[in-house]
Amino acid sequence: MSRLTDLIARAKARDSALGDELEREFKALASRRAFGLNFERHRPESVELPGRPVRRGDKVRILPPRGSVQRADQRLWRVKRIDSKSKARMALVELIDAEAPETVDVAVADLVVVAEFRDYIYPGLVSTGRVERGGDKPFHTVINGENFHVLEALTYTHRGKIDAIYIDPPYNSGASDWKYNNNYVGEEDLYRHSKWLAFMERRLLTAKQLLKPSGTLIVTIDEHEVRRLGLLLEQILEGFTIQQVTIVINPKGVTQGYLSRVEEYAFFCFGPDSKIFAGDDDLLTTKDSTTSDDGYSRPRWKGLLRSGDEAERKDREQMFYPVWINPKTKRIVKAGPYLPLEQEPDFSLKDADGNVAVWPVRKDLTLGRWGLGVDTFNDLVEKGFVALGSFDKKRRSWGLSYLSEQLRKEIDDGTLVVLGKDPVTGVADVVYEGAATRKVRTVWHRTSHDAGAYGTDLVGKFLGNGRAFPFPKSLYAVEDALRVIVRGKPDAVVLDFFSGSGTTAHAVMRLNRQDGGRRQSICVTNNEVRASEQTALREAGLRPGDPDWEKSGICDYITKPRIAAAITGKTPEGKNIEGDYRFTNEFPMAEGFEENAEFFTMTYEAPVAVRHNLAFQRIAPLLWMRAGSEGRRIDDLPAAGWDVADTYGLLVDLDRAAAFCDATAAQPTLRIAYVVTDDDRRFQAVARALPDSVEPVRLYESYLSNFRFSMGR
Ligand SMILES: C[S@@+](CC[C@H](N)C(=O)[O-])C[C@H]1O[C@@H](n2cnc3c(N)ncnc32)[C@H](O)[C@@H]1O
Repeated sequence: MSRLTDLIARAKARDSALGDELEREFKALASRRAFGLNFERHRPESVELPGRPVRRGDKVRILPPRGSVQRADQRLWRVKRIDSKSKARMALVELIDAEAPETVDVAVADLVVVAEFRDYIYPGLVSTGRVERGGDKPFHTVINGENFHVLEALTYTHRGKIDAIYIDPPYNSGASDWKYNNNYVGEEDLYRHSKWLAFMERRLLTAKQLLKPSGTLIVTIDEHEVRRLGLLLEQILEGFTIQQVTIVINPKGVTQGYLSRVEEYAFFCFGPDSKIFAGDDDLLTTKDSTTSDDGYSRPRWKGLLRSGDEAERKDREQMFYPVWINPKTKRIVKAGPYLPLEQEPDFSLKDADGNVAVWPVRKDLTLGRWGLGVDTFNDLVEKGFVALGSFDKKRRSWGLSYLSEQLRKEIDDGTLVVLGKDPVTGVADVVYEGAATRKVRTVWHRTSHDAGAYGTDLVGKFLGNGRAFPFPKSLYAVEDALRVIVRGKPDAVVLDFFSGSGTTAHAVMRLNRQDGGRRQSICVTNNEVRASEQTALREAGLRPGDPDWEKSGICDYITKPRIAAAITGKTPEGKNIEGDYRFTNEFPMAEGFEENAEFFTMTYEAPVAVRHNLAFQRIAPLLWMRAGSEGRRIDDLPAAGWDVADTYGLLVDLDRAAAFCDATAAQPTLRIAYVVTDDDRRFQAVARALPDSVEPVRLYESYLSNFRFSMGR
């Protein structure tokens, strides 16, 4: 049911006449489809927080008995009282939004706390392990959590700091690939599309706040939601330029009785100040045409003979002129003057020096015209920007090409350089500066993007022991997508909040290895257990939140081990990973990467712990992440009243401010000084005493209240 139908049902229960009238109006409105995307704001999403201790006042669900595989009761209850004296702690809970009051006594162990959108949550992070092979490089972080909550927490740590977001959300295919409010959304669900849109809209609105103006968001999708997603992105991302890329990911094709589908899509949403980086490969055409054996890449020159429309001689009389060439040396001498329309060209024209005239003759042997006027042409000849091709007997004409205006601009801005001129013909050798050359196209067709071979099979190698993840992306497809937007940004921060098996982090590590970059990724994924495995776990008496349940979840069972294996070059069982990486840089997978990664799980603190100031350790990782996820972390409140790590400092005892400020001035890599005080005046005084290069950030004394977020406004 949608939010509106829900509300109408409640109105009807209170006042049936009013409810009926409301329903009539709603139906009339619903039948008028607005032009564009039209979806209902769904009953707010709710998320179960299995690890969170149950307290008085919490919103909860009652779990089915252990061992049961029945669908859980979805009603929400409020905890009125907890009887801690009894052996099995019991709670009195009251049904929320009920017509008549209903209360029951339930064992606390059979309750799970629920956060609905608009409820306040206090997220914290707990480290569950790290891998260090990257020296002083920043850490890649992996966060096990509900991504909406993590995105909210990232608005504190990374507002306007992310260079690239790459997401591969659930495709809403009707299969068990996605849950809304704790239930799989099936093909039959009438609100399937609007639930998905509401779910995506909330997350994209928050994610947008994290992007730099020069940042880019990439969202992959398949045919189930591509049209709706396109409209949603347009609606949300005002000021962005959105392009849709078609990627062949399954060359064999899936037929399903109709056309054979081979592709999926990626929307590239370029922020207002973003720029893209050309590569050696445009990802569609064959690579042979421009990169030569000498290692240089050369731009394609433009044909001088006008083609397409307005290409006949009569269309531009003044662009019909002879080009004089020396047939022996193949040097272009000069052009002109133009031949008036009423005069016929002489194809055997020769001058005293033996130069011959070349006329614009089209493929169908009619007279055409050149693409430049005489003066511009002669100017370009002088610069060496016109080249002679081969003689075409049929047309009795020579091929001619020149550097287009766009390419000449690229010489001015340094993208192209003139290496020299041919001593005989005088034609310039124009090459791309560096290796970066070709603009990536909007259709990609590369064997390296095959999701079977370089997604499923590749991930299997890293996990070993038969572990598998459904439908990971091809590592090389993600690498190619990210290369377009972070190639020239060696310190880029890349976020993936539907990270699944962690392909994005793996691709970022490969990009770093290719150019010595220090990019970092932030990967967020929940710890869902695959639908096919859940029944067996439930039958064995397990529930979400139990350690034996959680260890089979995606984040703990797949994402973290895969990223650790990529870095160490060893499977979770300690075996060297077999095989070599392919394509852009090929080397044994067992070499791993010189990178660092740390794994976290998001926690939800109860407000009472927050009030009592018990939670510094839970926010310590957030402070470290805000300062760049690098160097030492301050994990405990410093006994001396202050501490200064590599990238940030923490002042807790304001009476020690002088010593703290001296220490911050002595640490050149410091970016942030966190100052814990509820007193604004004292905060300002410390801020004034800090070096200019250090950003002062105030924290409230009840630490977690700095990170109080409501789910949706
Ligand atoms: C299609 S997969 C991504 C696959 C990934 N690109 C790869 O190459 O492995 C989407 C992932 O998002 C996760 N997910 C779905 N809803 C989520 C949510 N609300 N919060 C966090 N993760 C979520 C799912 O568990 C799933 O692993």
